Amino acid sequence: PEEHTFALIKPDATTHKDEILKKVKEAGFSITKVKEQALTREMALHFYKDHEGKPFFDDLVNFMTQGPSVIMVLSKENAVEEWKKLMGPPDPEEAKKTCPESIRAQFAHDILANAVHGSSDIEQAERNIQFVFGELDAD
Ligand code: CMP
Repeated sequence: PEEHTFALIKPDATTHKDEILKKVKEAGFSITKVKEQALTREMALHFYKDHEGKPFFDDLVNFMTQGPSVIMVLSKENAVEEWKKLMGPPDPEEAKKTCPESIRAQFAHDILANAVHGSSDIEQAERNIQFVFGELDAD
């Protein structure tokens, strides 16, 4: 059965949007929803609430609201885990060593400006999708 995940191309990587979307499609995802805008602080706080209190949290929220992101719903079987695999690990140095074909290995600058984001589990994906796009089946 098809699953949905919530995904972002972050402000540091929107210049590579076409190359990243090509990899997304080649990996078999459908882009069910897409919208390009700078995240509001409210959106960033919602997506990153699990990281509140961490030393990098303020930098993360500031970075994510500084310029446009590409906000997407990606769909395929096992989408949440498959998108995490395609992104690769958060630190690009590690990504280059362990997953050289991943998006972060190829496009991330550093562990903060790391090109893409994805929900960590199905529940979070559903909450994030609902927050930005509402009910998927409503239209
Ligand atoms: P993302 O997948 O968007 O989810 C949480 C984000 O926090 C992560 O990618 C990075 O952008 C950021 N992050 C995680 N760990 C660190 C860190 N040690 N220093 C700076 N930013 C981090």
